[in-house]
Amino acid sequence: MRATGPHRLAPSDDPVEPGATTAITVHVDGLPVSGLAGQTIAGVLLSTGRASWRTTRRGRPRGVFCGIGVCYDCLLTVNGLSDVRACQRRAADGDVITTKDEISSMTRPACLPAGTPSPRTSAPDGGGGA
Ligand code: FES
Repeated sequence: MRATGPHRLAPSDDPVEPGATTAITVHVDGLPVSGLAGQTIAGVLLSTGRASWRTTRRGRPRGVFCGIGVCYDCLLTVNGLSDVRACQRRAADGDVITTKDEISSMTRPACLPAGTPSPRTSAPDGGGGA
């Protein structure tokens, strides 16, 4: 394929020299999902057509909002580690990913017993982006 335009490079002239892609498989809620090495977990999920993977306490869907690690809308559990930002974590072959149904304990101060709403989670929307 020939590149066109003053700022486009043919792949053979690209100084970044992108390498060949390697297929990986992660397990999302028990189901195998294919991706490419180097993709974020959010990228893997989005490539399957999935736009959200958790909901707020009010049932509003959340997935990628900012994509830069700021909003925490994309939280999920990876290999048993909860509250991982899917937009910041690269997927690795064999990762076990669990999606979430509500805001997790991360937003609750440790001094509050389970079930006690924290100031952050008692917001009208349950927090976490627009
Ligand atoms: S999408 Fe905002 S932190 Fe991941």
